[in-house]
Amino acid sequence: MNANATTSQGRDGQTFFQPRRLGHVNLVVDDVDRSMDFYMQVVGFEEAYRRPQVKAGFLSNGNTHHDIGLVESSGPLGQGRPAGLNHTAFELETEVDLVADYDRAISSGIEFDRTSDHDIAHAVYGLDADGNQYEVYADVIREWRQARHGVVTKPKPNWTPGSTPPNSERNYHRDPEIRRVKDAIFHPLRTTHAVLVLENFERAFETYCTVVGLSPIVGDADSAFAVLGGTCGERNLGLFRARDGRVPGLHHVGLQVWGESDLNESLKRLASTGHEIEAEFDYPTRRGVFLKDPDGIRLQFYVDRDPGAEALRHCDEETALFLV
Ligand SMILES: [Fe+2]
Repeated sequence: MNANATTSQGRDGQTFFQPRRLGHVNLVVDDVDRSMDFYMQVVGFEEAYRRPQVKAGFLSNGNTHHDIGLVESSGPLGQGRPAGLNHTAFELETEVDLVADYDRAISSGIEFDRTSDHDIAHAVYGLDADGNQYEVYADVIREWRQARHGVVTKPKPNWTPGSTPPNSERNYHRDPEIRRVKDAIFHPLRTTHAVLVLENFERAFETYCTVVGLSPIVGDADSAFAVLGGTCGERNLGLFRARDGRVPGLHHVGLQVWGESDLNESLKRLASTGHEIEAEFDYPTRRGVFLKDPDGIRLQFYVDRDPGAEALRHCDEETALFLV
């Protein structure tokens, strides 16, 4: 396996994977127990499972096996890196697709970072031109709650795409029951998008479009910003150019909440707890807030009044950061 993904496009210009949507975001945090408490009590996710041996925790309200993954910076998965993005992860239709697209990519000279058997999902990891890691994965077990809950200690076997018979089932849940953590401050339905600020915007855009296989919804490799999505048609990934006052890396993680009145109630509860919001915004198409987690990782809680992308096509770059 190559250590770096330096080649982003196949020799004949073809594209490779074709994700449905963003599945989860994985974050490096300085204290996984502190962050698990925050993501349960404030953000409003349930604990899905923990892997204390590697200082990692996973949260979900039922959308998928985890909407948020947390790895501790001092642990073997955090590898001493500062708090921030570990990876964005994009959900494929089936493992058959994962294996076939991986084989095609390797044959075309694409390089990946690593591959992994996560028991409930099989995954391939690569890096964009800034070194942000992405994951493309397919669920291989549909009933993930039965397979992964509580404290998970099962070691991960070595796995490369095709080394086990690929599963042809669509194991994601199309219309899952979403649980609501009543006593939490916010009530997210799920993680819907991530926004990255990039030094190497054009090359990263190419990687996310050609290798990861997302489609541009707004913008292109030459524009000030771009918004990409999977086959479900959602806005899953925002890409913005680094510049003064906008540092490279993860800008925010987007969490869709139950509704506007629910968001208003959350803000009332938040005000009584001492947690400070970074910004509150109210556009005709979206209302929401930015809040930072214990490590300063920015989270957006939002509700869309108009799910279309039309407003994004006509707004300036700063406004677009709120509307991805
Ligand atoms: Fe992941």
